[in-house]
Amino acid sequence: MAELRTERLLLRQWREEDLDPFAELNADPETMRFFPSPPSRAESDALAERARRQIEAEGWGLWAVEVAEGASFIGFVGLARPSFEAHFTPAVEVGWRLGREHWGRGYATEAARAAVGYGFEELDLDEIVSFTSLLNEPSSRVMERLGMTHDPADDFEHPRVPAGHPLRPHVLYRLSRSDWAVS
Ligand SMILES: CC(C)(COP(=O)(O)OP(=O)(O)OC[C@H]1O[C@@H](n2cnc3c(N)ncnc32)[C@H](O)[C@@H]1OP(=O)(O)O)[C@@H](O)C(=O)NCCC(=O)NCCS
Repeated sequence: MAELRTERLLLRQWREEDLDPFAELNADPETMRFFPSPPSRAESDALAERARRQIEAEGWGLWAVEVAEGASFIGFVGLARPSFEAHFTPAVEVGWRLGREHWGRGYATEAARAAVGYGFEELDLDEIVSFTSLLNEPSSRVMERLGMTHDPADDFEHPRVPAGHPLRPHVLYRLSRSDWAVS
């Protein structure tokens, strides 16, 4: 099973002890302001369990992230297959969600770089995408720091967000293996 190490972080399999801090960050309205409805405790646990099973089955997924010389769980970063249909699916996306106290330190970008590197180098993917609500600028900035590019023609209405909801319009960013290789 793949664990990824970066200068400051460890991307690892989920543990039972992660469930409480994960539920706490999922219950934080500021962290979840770009999600139409924050997950309940049961949904938070189920999300962690799905991520754990995906990593167990395939060796990669949305990894739990810990700071090597600090917090033992700060959120998740990793790769996933979007579970809805859109013009860019099937695809592999890179995604992230960190507790608020861990923002502003470059952790999401550092972890995502390792995940993207794994996707291109170990999984041999041709392309990795990422998407977020048009309003979620912090998340788009992570995509830009990763060298991903945005074509407005790719923007889409997220099928799981109700029509007319302000969070429904989404931006799509793409990164090809060839662009990654030269970056
Ligand atoms: C999206 C999210 C992970 C972004 O967090 P973030 O802290 O802005 O992103 P990073 O961890 O990459 O940190 C980058 C910031 O740290 C700063 N920074 C400080 N020290 C740094 C260091 N040593 N190295 C790199 N950057 C550093 C950078 O300048 C940058 O700040 P800026 O955006 O104000 O310029 C965070 O807002 C989040 O978890 N949100 C809730 C969940 C969510 O919306 N997920 C996405 C759904 S699609």
